[in-house]
Amino acid sequence: MFSLKGKTALVTGSGSGIGAAIAEVFAKAGAHVLVADLDAAGAARTLAIIRSSGSDAETVSLDITDEAACAALAAKTHAARGALDVLVNNAGIGHVGTLLTTTGADFDRLYAVNVRGAFNVTKAFLPAMISAGRGSVINLSSTAGLEGLKDRLAYAVTKHAITGFTRCLALDHATSGVRVNCLCPGRVETPFVKARLAEYPDPEAAYREMSSTQANGRMAKPHEIAAAALYLASDESSFVTGSALSIDGGWTAGMF
Ligand SMILES: NC(=O)c1ccc[n+]([C@@H]2O[C@H](COP(=O)([O-])OP(=O)(O)OC[C@H]3O[C@@H](n4cnc5c(N)ncnc54)[C@H](O)[C@@H]3O)[C@@H](O)[C@H]2O)c1
Repeated sequence: MFSLKGKTALVTGSGSGIGAAIAEVFAKAGAHVLVADLDAAGAARTLAIIRSSGSDAETVSLDITDEAACAALAAKTHAARGALDVLVNNAGIGHVGTLLTTTGADFDRLYAVNVRGAFNVTKAFLPAMISAGRGSVINLSSTAGLEGLKDRLAYAVTKHAITGFTRCLALDHATSGVRVNCLCPGRVETPFVKARLAEYPDPEAAYREMSSTQANGRMAKPHEIAAAALYLASDESSFVTGSALSIDGGWTAGMF
């Protein structure tokens, strides 16, 4: 088991799905976790799960699209705990549509959360991590951040942006001691995917179709993504920076 003992980690969007699983595994590995989410009830649920397994954490109410709120949270966190050791930019939203069915407002909303949100949070927390000379930033990209995805135009554009954001940050700060990587999951069974399924006329058929896009024929569980985040957060990944790690049941391995 990788250890995060003595480390402070912030996980955005950790009131649900993948972020909740990451917060839980980080707390189990010994980190003090800031469970940050727009959804206070979701964050409280994650905190309760963490506490019931004997670890501790705290909840933080945060809208990542609010630049001033991100800066205020960073100032408060730095005063209380110093620089973060681990920042996970996980909060994100989805959207089904082609160019023809995506409005400008849809596109702006996806961009504001998925791209500008990660920018706001990283801009607030990275300088202290650089000054401390250590840290790991983990961004949630997607298979759709490496390849095009049918009927997901705005989403795939924002996830390609996150892959690029990761690579540029990693290069710009490669000698600072701060490492920056992203995770590129295939489909993961979370409320996010359930919401997408509900948009189809036949959700069960859509579930089978979405499962079959992975070469191994199933979707991931959130803990299978959290395990990779734990590795990237830990000192065991000390030579890994700028990587986009596929966790996709073989989806991007080739044609099948
Ligand atoms: N589920 C998948 O199949 C899948 C696959 C690849 C990548 N991802 C990415 O993983 C991340 C998490 O996805 P998930 O499936 O766990 O989603 P989810 O919907 O289950 O959870 C997302 C969380 O983010 C929070 N959030 C949304 N907007 C926010 C904001 N402005 N500020 C703060 N918090 C906000 C929500 O309240 C929610 O708790 C996303 O970035 C998503 O794009 C998901």
